[in-house]
Amino acid sequence: MDFAKRLISWYLQNKRDLPWRQTQDPYKIWLSEIMLQQTRVAQGMPYYFAFEEAFPTVFDLAQADEQQVLKLWQGLGYYSRARNLHATAKTIAADLNGIFPKTHRELLSLKGIGDYTAAAIASFSYDEAVPVVDGNVFRVLARYFDIESDISLPKTKKEFASIAFELMPKDNPGMFNQAIMEFGALQCVPKNPDCGICVMNDSCLALKQNKVGKLPVKLKKTKVVNRYFNYLVYLDSEGNTVLQKRHGKGIWQNLYEFPLVETQAEADLAMVSDSIENEVLSVSRINSMAIVHKLSHQHLHVTFWKVDVAGTLPEAVSIGELAQFPVPVVIHNFIERYFGNQDLLLGSGPR
Ligand code: ADE
Repeated sequence: MDFAKRLISWYLQNKRDLPWRQTQDPYKIWLSEIMLQQTRVAQGMPYYFAFEEAFPTVFDLAQADEQQVLKLWQGLGYYSRARNLHATAKTIAADLNGIFPKTHRELLSLKGIGDYTAAAIASFSYDEAVPVVDGNVFRVLARYFDIESDISLPKTKKEFASIAFELMPKDNPGMFNQAIMEFGALQCVPKNPDCGICVMNDSCLALKQNKVGKLPVKLKKTKVVNRYFNYLVYLDSEGNTVLQKRHGKGIWQNLYEFPLVETQAEADLAMVSDSIENEVLSVSRINSMAIVHKLSHQHLHVTFWKVDVAGTLPEAVSIGELAQFPVPVVIHNFIERYFGNQDLLLGSGPR
């Protein structure tokens, strides 16, 4: 039996019952595929249901305000995905009467839709024979055919896309794409795959040559930058605090955070106090050890500082209102832990 037949037969017996596999609606498929980028199915699933319920159609998403979209996305990370999703929903609703483009080429013109997402929508919704190439596909093909090309190079994607295209049954491209991704997610997993039970184990070249652990080859290592974030948790005489919207490019654009002092290294009390321009009563450190929040290219060392001020602050928000704002997870967790317990705020609290 050839590769595609075996793969599809494996898929039909082993596939997970996932909600976006029961529809050809491009809106739902687009939602799911954007959510699942850099995200595991188990993590993405609750977000998919929340979006489907809040925004059943592309018009509902287009009409939502950005704060609501970001709030629902909170915790999923890579927030540019949510902003692009929202921008593209507006384009589709306003310029295209709510109708998605029907080809891979046209889909590529939409913001936030790259080669992978366009191929997924075109093949799942419209049966266009275009291969998806994601991390799963790289892994399955690199191992099965013993391909040593460096997958961190852009040209390697073309090589794998053309192999996948050759293998793909042209009368069933959507199922082939789902099947190869599912095979990578469940059977041909990155670490210690159980090759003994694999349906491909009599013809997998990597297995034959004992190279499963070495493939695919990825030479470029991601560079990680350390950053030191000091959040000023103001508290005024009414127990209110301050949140600011993060502007500019970079992480967390349009999410909210406490006023930030970024330093070149871990800050001490004097450094933080010196950088505060307002009249303050006292400044004290809340978490004694910095919280290390790991993003794909940055490790953030986060310290929260309690800043007591006399009188009331302009544009202050009450503690009860904090939950309405979309915030990064590290701030959300802090709010839950410290503001969830008012004693810590008003009393001495952990230092
Ligand atoms: N990961 C990305 N797309 C997926 C899909 N359609 N099904 C399962 N996992 C996926």
